[in-house]
Amino acid sequence: MSRILPLPDQLISQIAAGEVVERPASVLKELIENSLDAGATHVDVILEKGGVQLMRVTDDGNGIAAADLPLALTRHATSKIASLDDLEAVASYGFRGEALAAIAAVARVTLTSRTADAPHASRVRAEAMQVEPAALAAGTVVEMADLYFNTPARRKFLKSEATEMAHCDDVLRRMALANPGVTFGLTHNGSVKHRYAAGDLPRRVREVLGTEFFDHARPVRAEAGPLRLYGFAALPAYSRASRDDQYCYVNGRFVRDKLLAHALREAYADVLHGARHPAYAVFLELDPRGVDVNVHPAKTEVRFRDGRGVHQFVFHVLQHGLAAPLADMANPERALSGAATLPAVSSPPQTPDSHYPAYRQVPLPVQEPALSTHFDFVRSAFASPPVPHHGLPDTTPDGSPPLGYAVAQIHGVYVLAQNAAGLVVVDMHAAHERILYEQLKNQLDGGPPPRQPLLVPLLLAVSPGEAAVAAEQGDTLQRLGFELTSAGPQALAVRAVPALLATDDLPALLRGLLADLKEFPASRAVEDRRNELLATMACHGAVRAHRALTLPEMNALLRDMEATERADQCNHGRPTWVQLSTRDLDKLFMRGQ
Ligand SMILES: Nc1ncnc2c1ncn2[C@@H]1O[C@H](COP(=O)(O)OP(=O)(O)OP(=O)(O)O)[C@@H](O)[C@H]1O
Ligand SMILES: [Mg+2]
Repeated sequence: MSRILPLPDQLISQIAAGEVVERPASVLKELIENSLDAGATHVDVILEKGGVQLMRVTDDGNGIAAADLPLALTRHATSKIASLDDLEAVASYGFRGEALAAIAAVARVTLTSRTADAPHASRVRAEAMQVEPAALAAGTVVEMADLYFNTPARRKFLKSEATEMAHCDDVLRRMALANPGVTFGLTHNGSVKHRYAAGDLPRRVREVLGTEFFDHARPVRAEAGPLRLYGFAALPAYSRASRDDQYCYVNGRFVRDKLLAHALREAYADVLHGARHPAYAVFLELDPRGVDVNVHPAKTEVRFRDGRGVHQFVFHVLQHGLAAPLADMANPERALSGAATLPAVSSPPQTPDSHYPAYRQVPLPVQEPALSTHFDFVRSAFASPPVPHHGLPDTTPDGSPPLGYAVAQIHGVYVLAQNAAGLVVVDMHAAHERILYEQLKNQLDGGPPPRQPLLVPLLLAVSPGEAAVAAEQGDTLQRLGFELTSAGPQALAVRAVPALLATDDLPALLRGLLADLKEFPASRAVEDRRNELLATMACHGAVRAHRALTLPEMNALLRDMEATERADQCNHGRPTWVQLSTRDLDKLFMRGQ
């Protein structure tokens, strides 16, 4: 048994760094947060090689006194809190006094700073911890070079330059959204990537999330007791294949909080297809004492004292915002300008009942009173959807196929078929999606799936992030049956696709796939997530609604359904077909009663 010994200081910091410094983007987040905590109005970021080789953040904040420079790099030294009381009411981004020390444990760090009253600037290099005079007008410059130079094992986990850069870009956008009054600049390998001039929230939202988002977004703003929510939520028409456009903040801090994500998702539940993700930039503000930010090393998760209350508030405000008549947002710019200094707004109603009186007044579609009993009867036949049959009978009395033969397609969505039992109604997209999914799985289990080369390669415009994922996950994409090559920094050439997926909607399919791949954490093998990827492929590969099918095509679909395992549920758990027996139909028309 070895003796118990205290760990050396440097090792303690390196262990702490493991939690705080996951990649260049996490360093960037810490440095920008420090600048904002120092009251900066200009933050300028320079990166080389995805931030791995060099990251320099310059701000015009209130600076660090020369004598404090070594302390800034010391673990557990902070100017932001001094007591437990302070911690519980913390309003700054930082509070642990740990970030710079952690970064300095795994990279070369230099701080240069000057406070307003100092005769000149001072500088300290973390390795030497010697303070020396330097030249700087005001504010602070933090420079980090050679990330993980002394921890090669960590360096191996870094992704390509383009991916690390894309993550840094995400960080800058997140910080910029929450701080519209601050000017931000980002330069990578000598070229300017972003420049956001100080302004108001609508302008910043438009700049960061784009005009298309902004044009589809509704302003959200409400206040109830200690809670306040404001921001922009995109209408379902602007839904995305990934969660990329979801920006949710608590007291100015970007968070990935399950409770909030759930409340927001629920607010869209009625209006959004399950595979699509809503887009929003919303800011929740509450008394810092009502939320614990000290629960996650990167501070991206929080714990609410009154989680239920927060959930209800966010859900109702957003649902209401999405349902509000368009007149309310005739001028979103004006509706939200100066959102940081909101005037009091009416509290959202506390209960759904008081919230939606209008919905309760919608008259039933009964025009002639004489028919009402009949309608009531029909409604009680359909009040709950008919339960789909599970498991098809192998044989039918007359030897016809279990799902029968197609007779028609209606509204471009449903296929009607007559079988021995009566009428079968098929949701053609859902059914086809299920079939494709199972076929893809089977093909992949048996080796590389057959490919369909494209006569003319498809050129796909992608974001730098998507291009990076495509390059990194080239093997995975190849195994799934795709042949993609880079065609420039923001374009891919698609040369072959899995034969099963020769669809007209390849761009959406590929974007969905790249979004999935980008979301997978590095630590999880792509193999583990194979079925999720196949589900995305099946969803996009399946026949779209409003495509007219011929009778032979419809019958082929029915036969495929019969041959497919678990064909009666789509990949989202919805039924793919229902049976209405002749008896069900007779009842509807009161035949024989
Ligand atoms: N850009 C800056 N301008 C002014 N002061 C700074 C700047 N960056 C760091 N400091 C000072 O250095 C201290 C240490 O920074 P560091 O990021 O390590 O810890 P923190 O921000 O206090 O807490 P956390 O670890 O939660 O980020 C800060 O408390 C602050 O006083
Ligand atoms: Mg900090």
